[in-house]
Order: sequence, then structure tokens, then C-alpha cells
Amino acid sequence: MQGNLIIKDASEVVTCSGFKAKRGKEMSDLMIIENGGVIIEGGHIKAVGDSCEILKDFDTHGFDIIDAKDKAVLPGFVDSHTHFVFGGYRPDEFAWRLRGDSYMDIMKQGGGIANSVKATRSASKESLAASGLKRLDSMLAFGVTTVEGKSGYGLDSDTEIKQLEVMQALKEIHPMDIAATFLGAHAIPPEFKGDEDAFIDLVIDMLAQVAQKDLAEFCDVFCEKSVFSVEQSRRLLLQAKRLGFRAKLHADEIVQLGGAELAAELGAVSADHLLQASDQGIKDMAHACVVATLLPGTAFSLKEPYARARYMIDQGCAVALATDFNPGSCFSNSIPLMFALAVLYMDMSCEEAVTAMTINGAAAIDRAQTIGSIDKGKKGDIIILEYPSYRFIPYHVGVNTVETVVKNGRVVFSKNKLPEM
Ligand code: NIG
Ligand code: FE
Repeated sequence: MQGNLIIKDASEVVTCSGFKAKRGKEMSDLMIIENGGVIIEGGHIKAVGDSCEILKDFDTHGFDIIDAKDKAVLPGFVDSHTHFVFGGYRPDEFAWRLRGDSYMDIMKQGGGIANSVKATRSASKESLAASGLKRLDSMLAFGVTTVEGKSGYGLDSDTEIKQLEVMQALKEIHPMDIAATFLGAHAIPPEFKGDEDAFIDLVIDMLAQVAQKDLAEFCDVFCEKSVFSVEQSRRLLLQAKRLGFRAKLHADEIVQLGGAELAAELGAVSADHLLQASDQGIKDMAHACVVATLLPGTAFSLKEPYARARYMIDQGCAVALATDFNPGSCFSNSIPLMFALAVLYMDMSCEEAVTAMTINGAAAIDRAQTIGSIDKGKKGDIIILEYPSYRFIPYHVGVNTVETVVKNGRVVFSKNKLPEM
């Protein structure tokens, strides 16, 4: 549903204005309008500017009005990397990691992603949709208005398609926009151990079905030592591109394998994780305009070194931040936690972090033309904080500062009152 809404007298409207990824120094300019206002008509932004100026002589009849005095207004956050549709949980593995087992050791012993695969294969569509719906509600309350979600807990055609169909069904019943990614190459299923090339052949078969049913826009692969090699990832993603998917990679997460270089070579829309990305890979990505999607919650949860955000931005990369919400490596969809980690441990400024979670998140899912900033013509996806500045987001460490969430011009979440959806 599309709404007509006026937000007026905000202490600041943080526009993040732009229609493509912001690179390097561009990430620092949030294009703030003090005493700002936004007019949304039919779900789209009609005007943004000084509150008094845009409302002068404007006929407000038929518009809801929100007074945002002493509050900051921002574009809705874009969580551009999640795995939010899954069956089962893995709290035991978290405990093993606390004892010293590594994420990859657990995976090699048959746990990790394989555990979630078992649970997701046996879960009904209804139960996956019910848990997915709850997770979307939780994301919305953190100010996320668009989320990317991956398959990858099936590793067989029926379950991969089941996950993607659940996402498609959720789009119909939840206000959140969902960008779907096919991640059939997420792990090697036990039945294919030792014959990874044959599994890639099967994933390529699945791709054709996913394309035919129009269930995903992106194709992703876990390019990692002991999972899929650079060569296998290249073969899969080239085929994906031929079928019209945009490429994404889980790249250089645990080991420096050349995933960043491959992302640049293929013109991927994003390469994600990048904890171990090489200097050359980072330069290649900057040159090829591949968005570097950094997932600090995963480095934090796995006690791995953080990705080199500062170096990437200084080299001219466009950096996005996302949660990687999943049942294994990062069971958190907390946006304020990601902000705190980015500014405290990754040397990003508050301004860069805001850009990374808005317009650059949108660019990481190929939507910078329609969301991620408060610009005329874009979707009316807006958040209002309970504080006067965006600086409170990381400063109020780990606490949600979002008071109101507007999607397509309608209030879909409010701390003060829960509206019907
Ligand atoms: O992005 N690294 C691979 N995939 C996910 C984790 C999935 C899981 O452990 O269930 C990630 O970290
Ligand atoms: Fe991931």
C-alpha cells in the first residue's frame, strides 16, 4: 500500500542523496538538511528540503503529518546480505566455538551449514514462512526497509526452490522489500563430498530452474578454501551471468583465495566479507566498481580480524555494511551493533557507516536508483530516530534508536504505537 505523508520540522534530514554507489571520499558527505521536511505522495518522495520552504503553499489535504521536531530523519536501512530463511538453530556450535573450535573445523566435521541444511530440508514451507515473518518484523523495528535474503540451506533443487518461494510469499504479506539471491553453492552436501565439480554441475542445473521460475535476481557462491575454488566459482557465476543473474560472492572470508580479484574480473555487483582480501583485490574492486559489503557482526562472532574498511575506502572502494544474519556465523540482525563495530573497530566514520547502510547497501543489490536515499522520485522509505542526530546511532552503543519506520509512505512501525500492517 502506498501512502501520502508529510514529515516536517526534523532537526536534520540526512538525505544520503545520490543514485549510485558512493566511493571513497564521497562516502563522507551525507547531504544533510537542517530543519528539514519530506513530502511523500502515492508512496514516493515528492519533495525534500527546508521544511518551511517545501510546505509553503502546499495543500496538505489527504496527507498524514508527522512532526519530527528534535528528531533525525534518514533513508530506511538496506540490509544487503542476510540468510534469514532457515530451519533450526545452532546454539551448541556457538558454545563449541567459545571452547576454541573454529568455524571451519566445525564445518569440516560435518556441522555448520550442513546442520542448517538438514533442518531446512525437513522444514515445511509454512514453518519457514512463519519464522521468516517474525525475523522480518524484527528487522523492520531496526529501521530496515529492504533486505536481501539468500537460499543456500537446501543444496538440492527442491529445498533451494522452497526457500526462494518462501521469500517470494513473504514479499506479498510483509511491508519489507526482499531481494532474493540463489546461493545453491553455499557448501558441499555430504552426498557430493570429493566430487565438487559434479555438485557445481547440479547447481548450474538448479540455476536454470530458478531463472525459469523467476525466483532470484542474484547468484552467490561461498568461494573459500575447502568449499568452492576460484575456478569453480568462476564457472558457476559465468553461467549465472549468461542467464541474467547479477553475481555476488562470499569472498576471502577465512583465507585469502583471490575472491576479491574474481569479483572484479566478473563485474560482480558485490563481494562480501573480504576479511582477508588482498591489496590487489581491493584495488581491482575499486576499479571495477564492485561494492565491498562488509559484515562486522560475523568477524565479531567468529573472533576473526575485521575487514580493512579504512584501506578499502581510501583506495576508492564503495563500502556497504550488512548483518549477514544467519544461524551460524552471525546470529544477529542488530543494525546498531553493526554501526558500533564499524566505527569502533573498523575505523569508519559515523558518516561513512550511514552511507554504507543506506545508498551503498542499495547499490549492493542493484537498487540505488530507487531506494537508499531521500531523493525526489525514490520510494518513501524513511526512518525517524528518537534523537536529533544520526550520530546517536553508534554512540547509543547497541541500542535501537529508531522510533518510527515508514515504508512506501506508510508508518509500518512505531515505538509509541504498533499500527496494523
Ligand atoms: O556468510 N560463510 C558462509 N555463509 C554464511 C554462514 C552460514 C552459516 O554458518 O550458516 C556467512 O557467514
Ligand atoms: Fe553470508
